[in-house]
Amino acid sequence: MPTIPLIDVKAQYAPLIAELQQAFADVLDDGRFILGPNLAAYEEEAAAYLGVPRTIGVGNGTDAIVIVLDALGIGPGDEVICPSFTFYATAESIARRGATPVFAEIDPVTMNLDPEDVAARITPRTKAIMPVHLFGRPAPLAELAELGPLLIEDAAQAFGSPDVAGHGIASTFSFYPTKNLFALGDGGLVAVRDEELGERIRLLRFHGSKAKKVFEYIGYNSRLDEIQAAVLRIFLRHLDDWTRLRREAAERYRELGLGELVEVPEDEPGHVYHLFVCRSQQRDAIRAALADEGIATGEYYLPPLHLQPALAYLGYEEGSLPVTEQLARENFSVPLWAGIDAATQERVVDAVRQAATVPA
Ligand SMILES: Cc1ncc(COP(=O)(O)O)c(C=O)c1O
Repeated sequence: MPTIPLIDVKAQYAPLIAELQQAFADVLDDGRFILGPNLAAYEEEAAAYLGVPRTIGVGNGTDAIVIVLDALGIGPGDEVICPSFTFYATAESIARRGATPVFAEIDPVTMNLDPEDVAARITPRTKAIMPVHLFGRPAPLAELAELGPLLIEDAAQAFGSPDVAGHGIASTFSFYPTKNLFALGDGGLVAVRDEELGERIRLLRFHGSKAKKVFEYIGYNSRLDEIQAAVLRIFLRHLDDWTRLRREAAERYRELGLGELVEVPEDEPGHVYHLFVCRSQQRDAIRAALADEGIATGEYYLPPLHLQPALAYLGYEEGSLPVTEQLARENFSVPLWAGIDAATQERVVDAVRQAATVPA
């Protein structure tokens, strides 16, 4: 039996190889590799897609967050509320700016920030709330926006959802190769509604400079390069098809009865299924059984960020975020990508069925 990967990135771009090769040839022919015409065009196309006036391409999704925080003047003495159940980069970026990540609980069903718990953690030092659209599911932006502090959306996992980049002062994206919209290397983007903020971010990504000789801010060297921008221009045209295929694959898992064996994500229209993350108290046994069958699975954020060694200085203890900690012990993802076929999904569900009936 062939092995089944968690995400088959190559299957997604295989039909586009000729178009990609032409794009590479065009960049080679043009000879500009940094801050060239593909980036300018991609930034406009991405802004139109997201429905925002401005986007700025940067080196990766982590830099996107750090640069937004910098542009907003968020740093030492400031607090930013974010989930602990997210990829490390979310809180690392806040800490990198010298600000304090304040971890809030999540809703155990949606796995996204719980607005009530966020509200309880707001202090006079809170400068922003940073929801993450986790696993492609939109965070409750409207409710979070009502709480007062600025919203900065970490949308690394949710490009393509109509429900992101709506309420935040800025939204950040990653184009790491497993993301829904991906580059063939590192890449990131910031989407903003405010032109002045956008201009500051544009300067910050290139050493704080408008023209190459005058430097207005202490900045960064973080650009989305021409080859990646050319790739992203092609992939953006396919994103809605890919999202439809992901949503169909998620629905198929539900139809195949996966939800009778383990908890599966409920659907909502804006969910773009970056990952299909399930939950079971038999998580470890199920993962081991699937591995024996050659089926890759993932598990996320264990230890969660509030218990990571690098963030121990924040003083969180085990048990301080019980919903997060329990979810970190029980979640696992099953294979899903745009174009996964029904037979592969049936094999996954059969394997879970075999494993889940084994007593825990
Ligand atoms: C939620 C989240 N935030 C931030 C990042 C950082 O993005 P990058 O790897 O492009 O720096 C990622 C992904 O890697 C992510 O999943």
